[in-house]
Amino acid sequence: MQAWFARRYGGVDVLRLEELATPTPRAGQLLIRVHATTVNSADVRVRACNFPRGTKTIGRLVLGWNGPRQPMLGTELAGVVEAVGPGVNRFRSGDKVFAFPGGKMGSHAQFVVMSENGPVAHIPEGLDFASAASLSFGGTTALHFLRAARLRPDDSLLVLGGSGAVGLAMVQLGRHQGAKVTATTSTLNCELVADHGANSVIDYTTPPVSGRYDIIADTVGAMNFTTAQDVLKPHGRYLAIAGGLAEMVGALRPGPHNTKMIAGPATESLQDITELARLFGAGHFRSHIDHVYSWPDLPAAHAHADTGRKRGSVVVTLRE
Ligand SMILES: NC(=O)c1ccc[n+]([C@@H]2O[C@H](COP(=O)([O-])OP(=O)(O)OC[C@H]3O[C@@H](n4cnc5c(N)ncnc54)[C@H](OP(=O)(O)O)[C@@H]3O)[C@@H](O)[C@H]2O)c1
Repeated sequence: MQAWFARRYGGVDVLRLEELATPTPRAGQLLIRVHATTVNSADVRVRACNFPRGTKTIGRLVLGWNGPRQPMLGTELAGVVEAVGPGVNRFRSGDKVFAFPGGKMGSHAQFVVMSENGPVAHIPEGLDFASAASLSFGGTTALHFLRAARLRPDDSLLVLGGSGAVGLAMVQLGRHQGAKVTATTSTLNCELVADHGANSVIDYTTPPVSGRYDIIADTVGAMNFTTAQDVLKPHGRYLAIAGGLAEMVGALRPGPHNTKMIAGPATESLQDITELARLFGAGHFRSHIDHVYSWPDLPAAHAHADTGRKRGSVVVTLRE
């Protein structure tokens, strides 16, 4: 089979397409023939060794000093079960599935082995491979942070950066959970963000954000906990989704007026991707695809994600 590898840190030129043996599923595992995957902000952060502020040393210690320890990137995928190992009950050959290896990565390959108890689920009715592949990354991040924020119906939620993979998920899931959602984005993306359920959209190229909010979901680092105080209500929560070490440390103590900062990595779970499939089926959540690249063009998908301006997800398709 073929897979894309980043064996050292750097620009898109470090990516190489290599041949390797197709894995065999062991007991409790399934082999998935990948039809679609994505290139997202996590892939380009790892490829470029561009970790959030203050986490470069710890990032290299954990993920690899001179290059990614897991050189096969790719956090999410959709495809068809090719074979199952002994004892697998949840899946059969031919099932259409989507999966979220998340931080373990390894989705930029023609075949991927997953544990049947891992974050892998059946593709809901009505979802194509490209859309199913792009359901998990933004969606699970938004679910994690909304849970941590203990969002209550009628809370006011300000999403800073409403048009990225995480931002579009945060807008939809916040709205579904009953929040009044305001989102910032550039002029070009105002319509897209409104179309995903924002009650109001602020063009960030015009004067600064005003008003008071119960929750600020900062997906771009447009504010920090200090500047967020100007627009946060007492007891408000500032979600430093793009935050680094300072935010993780700062989150350990409360802010003025009982405000709270929440930071750190989002969890990855079967429950959350199953919930996203259910929400898709109920019409409350969908992924937005900015552009689809072919398998040999995966480096172009990295270059697109590198711009920091993608709208929703950038998908790479391997088969129809
Ligand atoms: N904590 C965690 O576990 C976790 C999990 C996932 C992601 N993240 C982090 O969250 C961040 C967002 O991830 P993502 O995948 O959503 O990124 P993304 O899809 O690459 O975000 C791109 C979007 O950001 C918007 N943007 C850029 N600067 C902006 C600004 N100043 N104000 C408003 N919008 C702005 C762009 O819109 P315009 O073109 O309109 O500017 C673009 O649509 C990344 O830093 C990522 O590392 C953290």
